[in-house]
Amino acid sequence: MKLKMMYSFLNSDINTIEKRLEETIQADSLLLKRASLHTLQAGGKRIRPVFVLLAGKFGRYDINVMKNVAVALELIHMASLVHDDVIDDADLRRGQPTVKAKWDNKTAMYTGDFIFALSLELMSDINKPLAHKILANTIVEVTVGEIQQIKDKYRFDQNLRDYLRRIKRKTALLISASCQLGAIAADVDESIHKKLYLFGYYVGMAFQITDDILDFTSSEEELGKPAGSDLLQGNITAPALYAMENETIRHEIEKVHQNIEPVQIQRIITLIKESGAIEKSIALSDMYLDKALRVLEDLPTNKAKKTLRDIAKFIGRRKY
Ligand code: IPE
Ligand code: IPE
Ligand code: MG
Ligand code: MG
Ligand code: MG
Repeated sequence: MKLKMMYSFLNSDINTIEKRLEETIQADSLLLKRASLHTLQAGGKRIRPVFVLLAGKFGRYDINVMKNVAVALELIHMASLVHDDVIDDADLRRGQPTVKAKWDNKTAMYTGDFIFALSLELMSDINKPLAHKILANTIVEVTVGEIQQIKDKYRFDQNLRDYLRRIKRKTALLISASCQLGAIAADVDESIHKKLYLFGYYVGMAFQITDDILDFTSSEEELGKPAGSDLLQGNITAPALYAMENETIRHEIEKVHQNIEPVQIQRIITLIKESGAIEKSIALSDMYLDKALRVLEDLPTNKAKKTLRDIAKFIGRRKY
C-alpha cells in the first residue's frame, strides 16, 4: 500500500494543513518567502504532521488546534533540512535544487532560522507549558545531533552506540515529539502520550537507519536527493559500522577522505554492500520497528492505531 493511501481518511485535514503551511510562509522579505515556498512546494512525505494528527485521534481531536501543531512540526523538519543541506553540501532535495544551491549558504541559514521561528509562532496558540518545553528541547537536540555528526566526521573509531545516540537526536526525537505533541494538544492522558512518545522514538530510529541504508542502496533519481554521499563526506552510518567489523574492510574504509577518487569510493561502497552490512542494518531497523509495534499493542484500539501500525511497517520497506 502507498503511504498516502494509509491515511486517506485524514485527507481533508491534510489538505487543511497544506493550506496552513502556505499561509504561514508569508514574509515581508520576498527572498525568505520564495526560498521557503520553494522547499515547501517541492513536496516531501509530510510524515511528521501525519503523526501529529494520528496521535491526536487518541484524545479530543479538534482540527483547528491540531493543524497548528502539525504545521509547526513540519516547519521544524523543513528548517532542519534547509540547514542540513548546508552542512551536507547537498544540491538536491525533494527532487529540486536545495535553497543553498538555488541561492547560497547564507540565504539557507536565514531561511532555516525564519522557518524555525514561524513554527514557534504557531505553537504559541497552544496554552500548555509542557508542549513548549518539549518543542524547545527537541530543537536543541536536533541541533546538537547535527553538530555531533560534524564532530564525528571521518572518525573511524566510533561505535554503534555513538551512531545511535546521534540519530536519536538528529531524527528520532522530532518524530517522537510529533507523536507526543499531537497527543498533548488533544488532551490525551499522560500514560498514553508517553507511549506515543516511545512509539515515535522507535519509529524515528528505524526511519533514520533506513535513510542511511538507502544512501547506500538507492539512487538520486529514486530519492530526489543525493545518494552515496554519506561515506564520502565522512558520515559513518550503520552500514559502514557493521562492515568495519571485518578487519580488511575496516582498513579500506579508513582510507576514505574528502578528496578520494570516485572509483575508489565506489569500490569501498561495493565492499560494504557485499559484506552483509546492509542486511545487518535492516535487522537493526527491524528491531526498532518491532519495539514500536509492541508499544502500540498497549494503546486503545482505533483507526489511528491501525494506521500507525501500517506506517511503521511502511518505514521498514520504504524506497523514498
Ligand atoms: C529526511 O526526512 C531527513 C531524515 C530525517 C532522514 P524525510 O524523508 O521525512 O524528508 P521529506 O520530508 O519526505 O522530504
Ligand atoms: C537527517 O539526516 C537530517 C536531519 C535530521 C536534519 P540526513 O542528512 O541523512 O538527511 P538527508 O538524507 O539529507 O535527507
Ligand atoms: Mg545530514
Ligand atoms: Mg543530509
Ligand atoms: Mg540521509
